[in-house]
Amino acid sequence: SRTFRIAPSILSADFARLGDEVRNVIGAGADWIHFDVMDNHYVPNLTFGPMVCEALRKHALAADGARVPIDVHLMVQPVDALAQAFAKAGADYISFHPDASAHVDRSLQVIQAAGCKAGLVFNPASPIDVLEWVIDKVDLVLVMSVNPGFGGQSFIDSALRKTERLRKLIDASGRDIRLEVDGGIKVDNIRRVADAGADTFVAGSAIFGQADYRVVIDQMRAALAA
Ligand code: DX5
Ligand code: ZN
Repeated sequence: SRTFRIAPSILSADFARLGDEVRNVIGAGADWIHFDVMDNHYVPNLTFGPMVCEALRKHALAADGARVPIDVHLMVQPVDALAQAFAKAGADYISFHPDASAHVDRSLQVIQAAGCKAGLVFNPASPIDVLEWVIDKVDLVLVMSVNPGFGGQSFIDSALRKTERLRKLIDASGRDIRLEVDGGIKVDNIRRVADAGADTFVAGSAIFGQADYRVVIDQMRAALAA
């Protein structure tokens, strides 16, 4: 059976209090911290870089002191140099958009050589055929269910079909690859995303938009367990 992971996106957190926000959302039950890196080039928005990741890593700890994985989602072009900088800054997973890398196979190798798990991200209208040639090198696949660049957008339904197809490819590979979905996930649709085959769920505005993060995360887990 699949183990579900909830990965709050700090894109929707209070940027003036990021360390507190990371600690609070972990205290509320977050499994991973999703870290959205935007460069005002690949996407029309600008967020934070490796120095902020490095500053937050000491806050990404569970109550027992265990590290909470930092899931870096690179929306940047080019990929490799920043991926290496994020590996040094304490990232655990680093994912990139294949259309932003000149050499996808090399970017995956760069990330893994730096000691991180490597992921590929597919936009709502992007084909997934590249996966066939690198599935042996991928640790995570991230399905965008919004166009990247902003939090708070609504879920694009075709992402469910894409998730179903990716679940089949991953299962057929026999490899241990996480299948993550990002964008517009709420309490009322997370179950459909899981039924399509996802095991890892990014949620920004749904969690940080509520006063009590634990209530939302508990409701999401209940929906997944139902
Ligand atoms: C969008 C980001 C998402 C975003 C999700 O480019 O990749 O991670 O923060 O935010 P919500 O959950 O509000 O759609
Ligand atoms: Zn993201």
